[in-house]
Amino acid sequence: MAKQDATRIIKSCPRLEGELILPGDKSISHRAVILNSLAKGKTEIGNFAPGRDCLATVRCLRALGVKIDRKGSRDSPTLSVLGTGEAGLKEATSVLDAGDSATTMRLLGGLLSSQPFLSVITGDDSLRNRPMGRLIEPLRLMGAEIWGRGKDSFAPLVIKGGKLSGIDFTLPIPSAQIKSAILLAGLFAQGNTVLHQAIPSRDHTERLLKQMGASLKSQRDLISLLPLSSPLIPVSFRVPGDVSSAAYFLIAGAIHPNARIVVKDCGINPTRTGILDILLAMGAKLKIANERLEAGEPLADIVVESSELKGIEVGGDIIPRLIDEIPVLAVAGCVAKGKTVIRDAGELRVKESDRIATVSSELCRLGAKIEPLPDGMVIYGGRPLLGTEVDSHFDHRLVMSLAVAALVAKGETTIKHAQVAQVSYPAFWQDMQQAVNTDKS
Ligand code: S3P
Repeated sequence: MAKQDATRIIKSCPRLEGELILPGDKSISHRAVILNSLAKGKTEIGNFAPGRDCLATVRCLRALGVKIDRKGSRDSPTLSVLGTGEAGLKEATSVLDAGDSATTMRLLGGLLSSQPFLSVITGDDSLRNRPMGRLIEPLRLMGAEIWGRGKDSFAPLVIKGGKLSGIDFTLPIPSAQIKSAILLAGLFAQGNTVLHQAIPSRDHTERLLKQMGASLKSQRDLISLLPLSSPLIPVSFRVPGDVSSAAYFLIAGAIHPNARIVVKDCGINPTRTGILDILLAMGAKLKIANERLEAGEPLADIVVESSELKGIEVGGDIIPRLIDEIPVLAVAGCVAKGKTVIRDAGELRVKESDRIATVSSELCRLGAKIEPLPDGMVIYGGRPLLGTEVDSHFDHRLVMSLAVAALVAKGETTIKHAQVAQVSYPAFWQDMQQAVNTDKS
């Protein structure tokens, strides 16, 4: 994304209170629009994620010939997608631009490897420095002709799509993007695709493919997919709220001494709710109510109140279930009593920023004591945070985490490059303003 230079000033507040309707889940939205583009017929996807990442996926699909209209409000749009059917995508006349979005690049990388035309896909400075060898390697095993810059390590990617074969593959890292890319390629391959995963990652692709009639079976460590024998069935639904976006307000509510926050219609897919489990284990007063299902995805309302958190050890299988929430979990660790140790999270180093380095350095500027580790960090909680100037490093998850820290820091915090929240949560500053400006203090 363009490097804009908006600065935000956040002051600690006496009371935090609010009922929030969250932006649609980013991971589900990418999959909903991609898979419905491949289905035969029309769909409506409500509460589509309004951030730049999912709009990049929409932009690429339009360039590939899919008719997608957008209506409704800016923060909760509805997309009308006219699916092209299995063989309906067209060669784009220009380079596809995934912006900041690795999910766009990797999922479309898998899909386009199976389509009978040439594609070139690039992204912004940050995305062009994120690892793509992990995508290229398994796709080549399926017969894909795909290349990347830096000896096939980075984008731009060039893809000469064609006939692929299914594979039997063990995912070396618990990455839902790579798993989904292989499944998308597998839909159009010859023969079955079988994936083994030692640690499960988010399973939105598997759930939606099942809803849309694909022959897919999944267990904890094994996924098996048959190529499409008939087009996917379009599925219209409302995307649940994004639990990753909810995490900022849930943690703000838990660490603020005078708070009550309700998040409505929030996705609670168990492959995503590691943060809720950890908050409960840290002693958060958190309640989940009104559980239900929408297109195979569970959702609920979540209430959190001011809590006395204690430090915790976080590592192992839970990491993929909360990988995107670790920056804001680190803020909870700073306020909690005792030590919080986060391990097995080396993937943080290859996100939108090196989140082990940036989270540690920016929270330390606010007075926290954090020791970065190669695969995580040790946070010595309970030290007072003091407002100062901090930087987002153009990372949306870091900027929102810093805003949460600023709510409980003494005095005033200036956050540079705050515009980047738009990547996943364009209404974040507005929602925070509303929660802060309660007159019931
Ligand atoms: C995502 C998967 C995760 C996550 C990212 C979204 C997805 O990345 O961190 O924000 O929608 O599939 P990896 O697949 O690299 O683990």
